[in-house]
Amino acid sequence: MSRSVPEILENIDLYADDQVDHLLDALAVARTECPIRHTTADGGYYVITRYEDVRTVCENPELFSSAQPALRGVPVRIIPVDSDPPEHRHFRAFLNHYFSRTFLLRHEEQMRKIARTAIAAFLDRGELDVVRDYAIPFSAGSLARVVFATDNQDLVQRGVAAVNRVAVESTPETFQRVAELAMEAMAEVENAAQEREDVLAALTTAEFDGRPLTVEERLGIVTALLLGGLDTTRGMIVHIAHHLATRPGVERVLRTPDWWRNPLDEFLRYQTTVSFMARVVTKDTELSGVPLRKGDRLAVHFYSANRDPNRFDHPDELDLTRPSKPNAAFGMGIHRCLGQHFARIQLATAFEELLTRTTNFRLKEGQEIRRMAGVPLGTPQQLWLTFDKR
Ligand code: HEM
Repeated sequence: MSRSVPEILENIDLYADDQVDHLLDALAVARTECPIRHTTADGGYYVITRYEDVRTVCENPELFSSAQPALRGVPVRIIPVDSDPPEHRHFRAFLNHYFSRTFLLRHEEQMRKIARTAIAAFLDRGELDVVRDYAIPFSAGSLARVVFATDNQDLVQRGVAAVNRVAVESTPETFQRVAELAMEAMAEVENAAQEREDVLAALTTAEFDGRPLTVEERLGIVTALLLGGLDTTRGMIVHIAHHLATRPGVERVLRTPDWWRNPLDEFLRYQTTVSFMARVVTKDTELSGVPLRKGDRLAVHFYSANRDPNRFDHPDELDLTRPSKPNAAFGMGIHRCLGQHFARIQLATAFEELLTRTTNFRLKEGQEIRRMAGVPLGTPQQLWLTFDKR
């Protein structure tokens, strides 16, 4: 049974299935009444709900460390997500090159092929489950080919399953499973590193502050790429497809060549797929007048920040004509998403290929859309749509 707003506010639990339906409403009340809200869930943490406070935390990594970036603990390294300055700078300096728009556009044709193959499998049916038939094969396929340079579908499928579990459960065991898959991916690279020109191959020769990366660091980076790159883009494909099927005018917007700039920012603001991340306070301080002690844990709630009326007019409306204004969907400060250009290219490609062959999407009747708790707050677990062929 789903909890009411007053019940949720008594003790917010960001992983509770019974809080998903009204969590955003509860966070809206929290923003006005008690914007830095304590909960006893998962050992206790503060939920940071306002845009400006989320920004302050993210822009002060010395005071608010990323050493434990998930509330339920991370037993393995996930680099650079869990790194603080100065270490973080070295990792980003190495990784940024492989995630620049120019570098990634080299792989655009491969991404198109992945999309076309997925579309061909459902095109004649006139209906699809967006999650299984399109979002997963496309986002996992793109990550596998572009970042992992592998065609090993079995490894990728297991990666998808493992990352899914982290997203909704986020327990040490689920992280451990992803790290094991990272180890498998890294072993594949080491056998063929000479012939490759991708980020994983580069990890085997990269220098960090004048020395090679340790095995733990390499695995930490691979684990972070698996975690960061799978359910995020997948979630956005599903959300955008839902709008496509339920709101007049969205198909027209998605057919404009530049929709992946401002309109995509608005989709991301409205449905912030990485809804929160964690930080730890490194010394006694205060945030907007609330005293915080060394060791206190914070959930920086990007989704809530993106619905803050002090930052965005009519924040609970999806307004695809909204003037450009930075939002928190890709994070803020030094940890701002490494994969943001990759996500934009994937999303642009996914919908361009889809709408070249299809039109007139509708929700299939009679389905109940179940939405996820946890970090990918509210992402449908299944989404059946019907369409016409073009
Ligand atoms: C729509 C898609 C995506 C969204 C909404 C998203 C969101 C985010 C957010 C909010 C952060 C900040 C985390 C923090 O402050 O602790 C982040 C960081 C990160 N993301 Fe993404 N992400 C997306 C796609 C991707 C993709 C496709 C990849 C990689 C293949 C990726 C890799 C990463 C990595 C490695 C970090 C850590 C960066 C750092 O700590 O310096 N993300 N992402």
